Amino acid sequence: MANQLLSTVAHRDTLPEGYTRPENDRPQLADVVTDSNIPLIDLASPDKHRVIAEIDQACRTYGFFQIINHGISEELLEKVMAVGLEFFRLPPEEKAKLYSDEPSKKIRLSTSFNVRKETVHNWRDYLRLHCHPLEEFVPDWPSNPETFKEIISTYCREVRLLGLRLLGAISLGLGLEEDYIENVLGEQEQHMAVNYYPRCPEPDLTYGLPKHTDPNALTILLMDPHVSGLQVLKDGAQWIAVDPRPNALVVNLGDQLQAVSNGAYKSVWHRAVVNAARERLSVASFLCPCNSAVIGPADKLIGDGDEPVYRSYTYDEYYKKFWSRNLDQDHCLELFTGQK
Ligand code: OGA
Ligand code: NI
Repeated sequence: MANQLLSTVAHRDTLPEGYTRPENDRPQLADVVTDSNIPLIDLASPDKHRVIAEIDQACRTYGFFQIINHGISEELLEKVMAVGLEFFRLPPEEKAKLYSDEPSKKIRLSTSFNVRKETVHNWRDYLRLHCHPLEEFVPDWPSNPETFKEIISTYCREVRLLGLRLLGAISLGLGLEEDYIENVLGEQEQHMAVNYYPRCPEPDLTYGLPKHTDPNALTILLMDPHVSGLQVLKDGAQWIAVDPRPNALVVNLGDQLQAVSNGAYKSVWHRAVVNAARERLSVASFLCPCNSAVIGPADKLIGDGDEPVYRSYTYDEYYKKFWSRNLDQDHCLELFTGQK
């Protein structure tokens, strides 16, 4: 029901029912460190080999990196953030028109993660959009705010090109042909989540998004430049905060690239925490294999005589499995290990 949206009600000084995590599953914010070593990669560097090597290194270690000079203008990034916030500030009756808790809907405003299944909710509202091909989906996108369609579709177009460029560099970094990954993933779908995390009265007791890995191939995240909240698990043990940098975009690998790389690259656990002082917005763009794409470790990356770490499967099979589970269960890819 649309009245489950967090962004349509005023919040008091304690969490409403259903949002408090059990004691052994809380963010432990005092233990989180800020790690300025999260790789920062300048895509405009004239030394292309170095850029590829830096991306390769980042994918092997952190699974996350920030990019600057990525070609998307500061002005457009600002407009995307502004129109996103404007959307969440629309009156409740406007937002109710788009509300749905059915995960298969291609355009929906929803809350938490999967309200129908989960036992504890997350402190997040989100607008989820399918974005490719644009002509097919844009007509059904929100027409309020008035500039939404134009700004977001321009951004989607640019993000897609950037994502494909990154997939080329990632292929090269793995020692594959530049177009290898793009060919494997087929005509990729592109989805977007505009995440809105309202101010939260008790941020120690809940999450914006609990720990998860992204099920797709590649995620490009535009973060609020003033409020941090994204945290990444380093070496399976230490949560580190990824602080926003002006005009940077955050890139992380999804499960599908971990599979293609035969486990050399990591789709790492990450989460979003919330805070009492400020609301926060993030815009995640997901490049996803087409449903019929057959995903599995690249032959070239399986050592002589070794077995592949993951079996082959279709993305359709993977995605259904992902949405049938809770977000913070074991790594979904663990269910796809074994023979080719
Ligand atoms: C996501 C995600 C992090 C953030 O949408 O998958 O991890 O900071 N978002 O909003
Ligand atoms: Ni994510």
